[in-house]
Formats: sequence, structure tokens, C-alpha cells
Amino acid sequence: MSSFACWSLSLLILFYSPGSGEKAFEVYIWSEKQIVEATESWKINCSTSCAAPDVGGLETPTNKIILDEHPQGKWKQFLVSNVSKDTVFLCHFTCSGKQQSDSLNIRVYQPPAQVTLKLQPPRVLVGEDFTIECTVSPVKPLERLTLSLLRGRETLKNQTFGGAETVPQEATATFNSTALKKDGLNFSCQAELDLRPHGGYIIRSISEYQILEVYDLLLRSLQLSLL
Ligand SMILES: *[C@@H]1O[C@H](CO)[C@@H](O)[C@H](O)[C@H]1NC(C)=O
Ligand SMILES: *[C@@H]1O[C@H](CO)[C@@H](O)[C@H](O)[C@H]1NC(C)=O
Ligand SMILES: *[C@@H]1O[C@H](CO)[C@@H](O)[C@H](O)[C@H]1NC(C)=O
Ligand SMILES: *[C@@H]1O[C@H](CO)[C@@H](O)[C@H](O)[C@H]1NC(C)=O
Ligand SMILES: *[C@@H]1O[C@H](CO)[C@@H](O)[C@H](O)[C@H]1NC(C)=O
Repeated sequence: MSSFACWSLSLLILFYSPGSGEKAFEVYIWSEKQIVEATESWKINCSTSCAAPDVGGLETPTNKIILDEHPQGKWKQFLVSNVSKDTVFLCHFTCSGKQQSDSLNIRVYQPPAQVTLKLQPPRVLVGEDFTIECTVSPVKPLERLTLSLLRGRETLKNQTFGGAETVPQEATATFNSTALKKDGLNFSCQAELDLRPHGGYIIRSISEYQILEVYDLLLRSLQLSLL
């Protein structure tokens, strides 16, 4: 026997030695997703190392149905739905009269459903200042949101948001600029919710584009005199 195998074996004996106060069996919770949308349903699997558990299950304030189960009750797979806020799920098993549990916090996200762009004022003279304002409908988690103000394909500003709010929040980004030339300027705004750190995807939503009307003084006075 190699010294490594010998060392592993003695560790195993140490770990499982009776009366050492170690857990006699383990309970695990596995979730298909760590972050979900309020309308979603997904799978959770509760399992145990106990060979013949007396009883086991999933504790949740939301709807659940059992999909599948091990013949000796070593695991149970559930379909969970209708979560409206961040929720702790708890798996529990009883083995030889002792109970163990494992829990997991599942977060609920709110995607950027609507992105609105406003140019203030909507028409300017050459040399005048204007403000680009972008607002997104309530989003969660806000700290994963980036609002990008775009002129054509160029990014003028990327705005991120701090704080870990528990309820969805509306968000706004603004950018001040000066109309330098008479060119029509094409603006839009993109909202990006990056859920990758929570085991999700990137969700993007873009506003309708808006053209800033830029007049020069001569043309403007000509137009006015024609009215
Ligand atoms: C549930 O988890 C256990 C332990 O990881 C696994 O053996 C079992 O196949 C899983 N059940 C399903 C339906 O995926
Ligand atoms: C979903 O949960 C809400 C409370 O969070 C409850 O009022 C509603 O009845 C539930 N819907 C279903 C279909 O169970
Ligand atoms: C904004 O973010 C995009 C993509 O992450 C990047 O390509 C761009 O350089 C950034 N622009 C500014 C002005 O920060
Ligand atoms: C843009 O300009 C307005 C008024 O001209 C000012 O109140 C606001 O703070 C400015 N915003 C930024 C982001 O500089
Ligand atoms: C403005 O930009 C958008 C997106 O890049 C493009 O689809 C649209 O055709 C542009 N409109 C004009 C009038 O240039």
C-alpha cells in the first residue's frame, strides 16, 4: 500500500470513527438554477448519503411537485414554481432517528423590460447643449445592470449602479453634450443585466433610436421667416 493510500485510509477512519461527533450522514441540495424569473419553474434535487432514510423532503413556501424519486428514498427531484421574491429552500432527511438538512438561497431577477430614451431639448441650434436621458423599468438585481448611452455605434457612457436592493428599482443614466455640427445625431440606449455571477445569462434590451435635430442659426431664421 502506498503511503498516500495509507494516509487516505487513516483519514477515512478518523472521519467516520464513531462517537467523534461527526455527522453520521450528509444531506445535499442541488438546484438547476441559482437565479430565476418570477414566472419560471425549475428542478431541485434533494439527496442524502444515508442508505435507507426514514423520511425526507423539500421545505418551501412556494408551489412544488415531486417529479422522480429513488426507490429507497435516497433522493427526490422536485419541480418548483411561483417564487415572487428571494427564497431559501431547505432539503431534510431523517436517518436512524437523526435529522440533517442543507439549504440554498434562490434569487429572483426582474429583466429590463422597457428602456426609454429622451433627448432634452429634442432640437437644438449648433453650439447648444442637450441632455440624453435613459430610463429603464424596474430591474433586479440593480448592481448587475449597465446602461449604455450610444451615438450610432459609439458608446458615450456606461453607467453601473451600486447597492443590493431587495425590490426591483427603476434606473436612469444621463449624459450632457453639445451639438457641434449640423449632422443629425442618432442616439439609443442599451440596458444589460449580467446574471452570469449567479449562474444565469446576459439579458439585453435596447430603446428605440432617436434623432437629434440640429439647426444652424441661418436656416432657423429662414424657417421662422417663412412661417
Ligand atoms: C438527484 O441527485 C442524486 C445525488 O446526486 C443523483 O444520484 C440522482 O440521479 C439525482 N436525480 C435526478 C432525477 O437527477
Ligand atoms: C403564487 O404565490 C402567491 C404568493 O406569493 C399566491 O398568492 C398565489 O396564489 C400563488 N399562485 C399559485 C398558482 O399557487
Ligand atoms: C462601455 O462598455 C463597452 C462594452 O463593455 C466597451 O466596449 C466600451 O469601451 C465602454 N465605453 C465607455 C465610454 O466606457
Ligand atoms: C447635465 O446638465 C444639467 C443642467 O444643464 C445638470 O443639472 C446635470 O447635473 C448635468 N448632468 C451631468 C451628468 O453632467
Ligand atoms: C439609427 O441607428 C439605428 C441603429 O444603429 C439604425 O437602425 C437606424 O437606421 C439609424 N437611423 C437613422 C435615421 O440613421
